[in-house]
Amino acid sequence: MSEEKKQQVSRRQFLNYTLMGVGGFMAAGLLISPVRMAIDPVLKSGEGGGLANVGIAVDEITNEPTRIDWSVDQVDGWYESQVSRSAWVFKDENDEIVAFSPVCKHLGCVVSWEGSEKYPNEFFCPCHDGRYYKNGVNVPGTPPLTPLDEYEMEIKDGMLFLGDPKPHREA
Ligand code: FES
Repeated sequence: MSEEKKQQVSRRQFLNYTLMGVGGFMAAGLLISPVRMAIDPVLKSGEGGGLANVGIAVDEITNEPTRIDWSVDQVDGWYESQVSRSAWVFKDENDEIVAFSPVCKHLGCVVSWEGSEKYPNEFFCPCHDGRYYKNGVNVPGTPPLTPLDEYEMEIKDGMLFLGDPKPHREA
């Protein structure tokens, strides 16, 4: 084989390697974008969680349960939305702040403080006459089998911040 022939073969190999390298680089570039988009929500952490200022000062909270409504930003994959939340907030007999979820533990209707004239000083669910004592514990013999959930809470600069509902401390 002549020296010239040997050089031609090595040029061809060089071109093959170069084209494969450039092609691979371009393919990787095309793949990175969709992969990045697919895992983007996983890379973002902490959105939608945390505690929200619900717009009531601690000094305004009395022993009478008061309904507080607020909304939080929720990120579900690529979908961002505002979600409404509510709580029954009051100070208990130890002057500790309590924030109960209004979602009935029977089938999820909304409970109200003194929602029935027949049952004063209780939370009442109109769907199936579910009842809860003021401390959120379900009244035995009524449909709910567990106490109302309690919100995580924090007090910052005299304002009440609420997070996610958690099982009642007595559940
Ligand atoms: S949903 Fe509340 S008692 Fe049934």
